[in-house]
Amino acid sequence: MHTVTLIPGDGIGPEITEAAVQVVEAAGAPIQWDRQLAGMSAVDRHDTPLPDATLDSFRRNRAALKAPLTTPVGGGYRSVNVTLRQEFDLYANVRPALSFEGTQTRYGNVNLVTVRENTEGLYAGIEHYIKAEGKTIAAESIAVVTRSGCERIIEHAFRYARQTGRKKVTAVHKANILKCTSGLFLEIGREVAQKYPEIEFEDRIVDACAMQMAMHPDQFDVIVTTNLFGDILSDLAAGLVGGLGLVAGANIGREAAMFEPVHGSAPDIAGKNIANPTAMIIATVMMLDHLGEQAAARRIEQAVREVIREGKHVTADLKPGSICSTPEMAEAIAEKVRLAG
Ligand code: NAI
Repeated sequence: MHTVTLIPGDGIGPEITEAAVQVVEAAGAPIQWDRQLAGMSAVDRHDTPLPDATLDSFRRNRAALKAPLTTPVGGGYRSVNVTLRQEFDLYANVRPALSFEGTQTRYGNVNLVTVRENTEGLYAGIEHYIKAEGKTIAAESIAVVTRSGCERIIEHAFRYARQTGRKKVTAVHKANILKCTSGLFLEIGREVAQKYPEIEFEDRIVDACAMQMAMHPDQFDVIVTTNLFGDILSDLAAGLVGGLGLVAGANIGREAAMFEPVHGSAPDIAGKNIANPTAMIIATVMMLDHLGEQAAARRIEQAVREVIREGKHVTADLKPGSICSTPEMAEAIAEKVRLAG
């Protein structure tokens, strides 16, 4: 039995969390949930978006499934996502983008994974203004790229490729301009690649890569890159397969891992039971894979794909005019999971 910290989050979070829990139950996966608060629901009860009990639970269980959180405006609260990332050193953000048959997108053949460095680069948080005579005359930001940070993220990308039978790793950089920060990343990419001779290695300059992703996304397999480029390219990849409602990500460290949908708490549709639960269910699939429960993961993934392909029980974001609710879509997926069991 695996105990997993479950954070139902804010907005549509509780609705899609129930959907995911129902589907995991249908698969009979040996998961015990340790429900904890974070986000606005935690601020309301504990006056902090990240209570100690939630941190302790994640520390104990080392695996968490997290629904989206509404970022509190004002109040000086630190971002929960950033705090969790730093506290548990969740250095790898892994985001698969796979086309879904039955969705209305331009491409039917996308199957790529972005592996984004989550802790360094321009997001290291070293920024300041320069003032003269009481006026701000400039703003500076320092990108931090370390050898150890590059090694562990690039190693992670290659290990992931090896474990999942993927064939190619593309290192994305801007070493022609950012000769030090991007240059070091590329140099280490080439070094690490030598240890994985069975996996093809190539590098791309980030701007050209963005264009190639939009024109011929099928040429990419695993993309590994620094924090800022990864932030942008992983959203671009989500757009290629039908948007944020379908895509999930994992934040992985040496000691702990957290799985979540890519979208936010969607306050505009919260409480209406019309949210698409797919991204949250795919986050659960990634969690099950991480915990070694591959059989349950494959059954759930297959069931999600079939329900979307059939298009009978899908929410309105996937099929305009549909009146299918979140629980109805979840039940259609759960039913297929049970049948495959
Ligand atoms: P959002 O992703 O919540 O919503 C953008 C649009 O997509 C909205 O129209 C929404 O209704 C729709 N949408 C999102 N998920 C959907 C789903 N599962 N099914 C159907 N439609 C869906 O982004 P927004 O509005 O910018 O952010 C809302 C809140 O979420 C903010 O407080 C933001 O800070 C937070 N947020 C949290 C994240 C996290 O916890 N990982 C990630 C992104 C945003």
